[in-house]
Amino acid sequence: MHILVTGHTGFKGSWLSLILASRGHEVSGISLDPLPGGLFELADVSSLLRDDIRLDIRDRSGLEYAIGATGADLVLHLAAQPLVRESYADPRTTFETNVDGTLNVLQAIEGVPATKAAVIVTTDKVYRNIGQSTGYVESDALGGDDPYSASKAMADILTHSWTTSFPGVPTAIARAGNVIGGGDVSKDRLLVDLVGGFAEDEPVSIRYPDAVRPWQHVLDCLSGYLTVADALLSGSGTGAWNFGPDPDSFQTVRQIADAGAELWGDGARWVDASSGSHLHEAALLTLDSSKAKRELGWKNTLPFPASLEWTLEWERLVRAGADARAVTLGQIERFTALAGDASWTRGF
Ligand SMILES: NC(=O)c1ccc[n+]([C@@H]2O[C@H](COP(=O)([O-])OP(=O)(O)OC[C@H]3O[C@@H](n4cnc5c(N)ncnc54)[C@H](O)[C@@H]3O)[C@@H](O)[C@H]2O)c1
Repeated sequence: MHILVTGHTGFKGSWLSLILASRGHEVSGISLDPLPGGLFELADVSSLLRDDIRLDIRDRSGLEYAIGATGADLVLHLAAQPLVRESYADPRTTFETNVDGTLNVLQAIEGVPATKAAVIVTTDKVYRNIGQSTGYVESDALGGDDPYSASKAMADILTHSWTTSFPGVPTAIARAGNVIGGGDVSKDRLLVDLVGGFAEDEPVSIRYPDAVRPWQHVLDCLSGYLTVADALLSGSGTGAWNFGPDPDSFQTVRQIADAGAELWGDGARWVDASSGSHLHEAALLTLDSSKAKRELGWKNTLPFPASLEWTLEWERLVRAGADARAVTLGQIERFTALAGDASWTRGF
């Protein structure tokens, strides 16, 4: 199958491109240039692609041409400005990329006869956070206070409206939360900061040590995206789907930092840098993923300790000189063997 991944140069997009290419699919990508030192560069993902297109998704006519010329069977839309803090610094680019960019993708794929399905990736932050302790389900109200969350909620509503009004290409919306895994170099992500400090033998400053966060391995999140893509290609799966981590993965930042330092060894350490004056951060919001479990047969494969161990293992091996592509493909194979029926092994 020929699959187009937008955001293929990013963290999730690089893992996804490697999964798909390793399973024999033709993969094309549309994104901005990769960040230096990330998985895309280290694993030389570009050399596995049919088309490696560098294009701003805000460029409507350019995108329409590129998506038309690519002519993929399946489109997985991940490209976004995905950082909350950056969304305060540059709200206009965040809204334009996440909302207009998604509209441009939806409209462009309508004109491609080959395209049989599309998955639009949003986030757990699309839900209006009313402080409930139970997980949010797909029918709960959407909202968003910070510009990132609001832009993603807008993209989510836009996708619902578009696919309801113009039901051409069967489309799903995939909502997942914080993910971890090797090769991430984005700003403001705890594991990225921890590993960077541990590797440099520097104490890592932690701003919110007592904040509780869900942690999911990137492979479990991507297996959700591919499971729903498989359903779309088989005639079901439209609408919104949560692919969240299991309750065992809710840990404080302090617990992650302690466990990470212990696993890393070599005197790895962190320091409490909480101060009291911070940008507004939403209270913990969790996803209820029972719909995906019940209707798609999706489940998480890696429990929380394994997600952390695999992430640190990847970083240690690659920083010691191991081949990043080989390490990544090795983890993909291990994951596939563990996941069995409940992963992309089913359809892809
Ligand atoms: N990483 C997480 O914890 C997380 C959590 C929830 C949702 N998500 C969502 O998953 C998707 C992928 O996130 P990621 O973690 O891989 O982020 P990332 O920052 O690593 O990758 C973002 C990708 O989008 C591309 N991009 C950004 N602006 C673009 C533009 N204007 N035109 C074309 N391409 C553009 C980048 O080039 C890159 O390839 C995003 O939609 C994000 O909102 C991520």
